[in-house]
Amino acid sequence: MTSTTNRRLEGKVALITGTGGGQGRAAALRFAREGATVVGCDLHADSHLETRRLLEAEGLQLHGDGSVDLGDVDQARAWVEDAARQFERIDILYNNASATRFGPMAEFSVDDWHYVIRNELDLVFYTTRYAWQYLARQGGTIINIASTAAWCGSTLTGKAAHSAAKGAVVSFTRQLAVEGAPVGIRAISISPGFIKTPGTAAFVENPETRAKLLKGVLLDRPGESEEVAALAAFVASGEATYITGTDLVIDGGLLAT
Ligand SMILES: NC(=O)c1ccc[n+]([C@@H]2O[C@H](COP(=O)([O-])OP(=O)(O)OC[C@H]3O[C@@H](n4cnc5c(N)ncnc54)[C@H](O)[C@@H]3O)[C@@H](O)[C@H]2O)c1
Repeated sequence: MTSTTNRRLEGKVALITGTGGGQGRAAALRFAREGATVVGCDLHADSHLETRRLLEAEGLQLHGDGSVDLGDVDQARAWVEDAARQFERIDILYNNASATRFGPMAEFSVDDWHYVIRNELDLVFYTTRYAWQYLARQGGTIINIASTAAWCGSTLTGKAAHSAAKGAVVSFTRQLAVEGAPVGIRAISISPGFIKTPGTAAFVENPETRAKLLKGVLLDRPGESEEVAALAAFVASGEATYITGTDLVIDGGLLAT
């Protein structure tokens, strides 16, 4: 996939979570190509470090050592504060990381519920809470990755906890925009539909699952991580300074049908 970059994030410090995963890796690459100083982390240090290698191959840098469990408040706080200490500012907080569990209500355990809330919602609160004061210093941008699961149900699999968590990400972000506006913070959620990543590759390759997942998707293909990262880069840039408090859906037209 080709991408056009205009170094729109020059001079900005961007904290991106989940930089070992599909969309987080694409975002780290895109934001660094746009000129940002990128600090990442992931539960899985190896995949985060692989992203660092990909950036280094382009002469770019990815800061942060990886191996951070953002569902642990102390680790989340330390990751944010270490970055603020090292770079003396935070301009962009991009909450991308998440881990979920799917399953029908009849079988979904309390442990499953708490796992999803911890790894899809708590971690967004933790990083935001500790980055807030730095973002407020010069006016920053918060980008929270939600999902179309916040907006529509699915007959394919049970996902009540995931839908609840992502719905909460959208409404949490809206309120961040309200409280952030007086101090120059913009807050935007992005709701991707079905995106091709290493995690969804097996579904994409299986013709039967692929067809089910693409039902109702007007563009008749999964999205690419780079397409989500391109939207996020625009949202974080000086070209989007009048956008806040909204959710931007990137779903190939799924919600239109
Ligand atoms: N792929 C899709 O179809 C799709 C659709 C809608 C929304 N999303 C959302 O997009 C975002 C990115 O997902 P992805 O598709 O790139 O998936 P992914 O699994 O490839 O990436 C998520 C990354 O987050 C990391 N992570 C999970 N829990 C963590 C924790 N507690 N601490 C630190 N890191 C943690 C994982 O290790 C992983 O590398 C997620 O918020 C996901 O819910 C994805």
